[in-house]
Amino acid sequence: MGKGKLRRFDELSHFNRVFQPSMAEISGKEYHLKGKWKQEVFHNNNPLILELGCGKGEYTIGMARHFPGKNFIGVDIKGARMWKGAKASHEENILNAAFLRTRIEMISSFFAPDEVDEIWITFPDPQPTERRKKKRLTGPTFLRHYQGFLVDNGIMHLKTDSDLLYDYTLNLIKENELEILFYTSDLYSSDIVDDILGIKTYYEQKFLETGSNINYLKFRLKKNIPLHEIQEKE
Ligand SMILES: C[S@@+](CC[C@H](N)C(=O)[O-])C[C@H]1O[C@@H](n2cnc3c(N)ncnc32)[C@H](O)[C@@H]1O
Repeated sequence: MGKGKLRRFDELSHFNRVFQPSMAEISGKEYHLKGKWKQEVFHNNNPLILELGCGKGEYTIGMARHFPGKNFIGVDIKGARMWKGAKASHEENILNAAFLRTRIEMISSFFAPDEVDEIWITFPDPQPTERRKKKRLTGPTFLRHYQGFLVDNGIMHLKTDSDLLYDYTLNLIKENELEILFYTSDLYSSDIVDDILGIKTYYEQKFLETGSNINYLKFRLKKNIPLHEIQEKE
């Protein structure tokens, strides 16, 4: 590991509101902050919003600046990326943003029923092959995790350059009769871009430079309903 990366890892461990639980802290048990993020981390009872696969945390930080009356947690497994958002948060003393370094597969260990109000998924790996389909962050396996802690009919946002992931997610939502609030395969030609939808993440900027269209999808995730995978047509 390079010196720069080591320095970032060291800094990350000293920032406030950055959580990097070891496997021992979560394997077979629940994380000590489960159900207590608002009271113990943010010291308020404001809504809690997650950004999954946050990378450098542009959405987490951007939304935290914009909505001081809401709490935000960026989740990613890569500490060197997360460092950027965590450093900005530390330097600006943004009290309503936190970062959680973990695998999203473990997310149910961290949040209690109804603890989360909204979820953003920004430019996730599309996992295009059939073999890795189960790893899509908008697939039924992950949506079932989210049902466990998102409020009923909580809002989900997906922003992606991948037409494949966008089409897949849209079909999955229709198949499971979830309520679609908005969808577009060309966000920047639509008239809904505001200060939040206009935030451009690191990956988004790269995709825009190569001329990619940006897909955006907003829907509600119902609790207590079985979710099933799209049936492939014969
Ligand atoms: C393509 S990047 C996008 C990062 C950021 N949202 C952006 O738009 O710049 C995908 C991010 O998801 C994270 N990621 C992918 N699978 C993950 C998983 N299972 N658990 C935690 N993080 C994951 C990666 O570490 C990476 O930072």
